[in-house]
Amino acid sequence: MIEIHHLDKQYGNDREGTALHDINLVIDRGEFVFIVGPSGAGKSTLMKLFMREILPTRGNIKIFGRDITRLKNRQIPFLRRNIGMVFQDFRLLSDRNVFENVAFALQVIGTSRREIRKRVPTVLEMVGLKDKVWKKPDELSGGEQQRVSVARALVNRPAVLMADEPTGNLDPQTSSEIMDLFNEINVRGTTVIVATHAKEQVNRLQKRVIILENGCMVSDQERGVYCNAY
Ligand SMILES: Nc1ncnc2c1ncn2[C@@H]1O[C@H](COP(=O)(O)OP(=O)(O)O)[C@@H](O)[C@H]1O
Ligand SMILES: [Mg+2]
Repeated sequence: MIEIHHLDKQYGNDREGTALHDINLVIDRGEFVFIVGPSGAGKSTLMKLFMREILPTRGNIKIFGRDITRLKNRQIPFLRRNIGMVFQDFRLLSDRNVFENVAFALQVIGTSRREIRKRVPTVLEMVGLKDKVWKKPDELSGGEQQRVSVARALVNRPAVLMADEPTGNLDPQTSSEIMDLFNEINVRGTTVIVATHAKEQVNRLQKRVIILENGCMVSDQERGVYCNAY
C-alpha cells in the first residue's frame, strides 16, 4: 500500500539540511506500524511526504499503487481524502462544537447534509464521544479533544490513519486509551501509522516498529516478529 525506494529529503541546499537519508520501506494494507526515534529524527518529515505536503529530494513514494511525487496539484485532495491525519495539538476549530468539527471534514468535500447527519454520529460513537456531541473543544479534556480529531480523521473512511505524536500532550492513562483506540481502528481494517516517542506505549502494544535516527532507518522489525526493540 505504501512503498518507498531510496528516498532522501533535504531541506535547503546544504548537507546539513538532510532530514531523511536513503529510506526504503514497504507498509502493507492492514498493518499497524510505529515510527519511533528521538526528536529531529525525521518522523514528521516522513509523514509530510506521505501527505504530499512536501516533495522528496530523491526517490519516489508509491501509495495505493501511484507515485504521489508525480501527482498534479488537482489530484492531491484525492490522496489526502484517503489518508486521515491526527496531530499532537489536535487542531480543532475552537468556535465549533464536536459535531461541527467532525462534519467540517465532510462539508469541505461536498458531502450531502443527509449523509453528514448519518456519518458523524456513527464515528463519534465509535470513538466514545456520543455524549459530548454539543460541547466545544475548550469544554473537553485533552483525551476527548484527541478523540474528536480521530473522529474527524476517520469520517471520510480513509484507507490509512496517520498520527504524528498523538499522545504528546496527554498523560499516561489517557495516552493508553488513545493508543487502544488506534488499535481498535486497525482491527476494524484501517492501516495505522503512528509516529511517537512514547516508549511505554510502543512496548505495550507489540506492533511493527520502525526506528529512525538522524534521518536514517536504523531498524525495521521483520513483519510478524514483534518484540521490545526500542
Ligand atoms: N521546514 C524545515 N526546514 C528546514 N529543516 C527542517 C524543516 N522541518 C524539519 N527540519 C529538520 O529536519 C530534521 C527532521 O525533522 P522532523 O522530521 O521534524 O523530525 P521529528 O519529527 O522526528 O522530530 C530536523 O533536523 C529538523 O530540524
Ligand atoms: Mg515530529
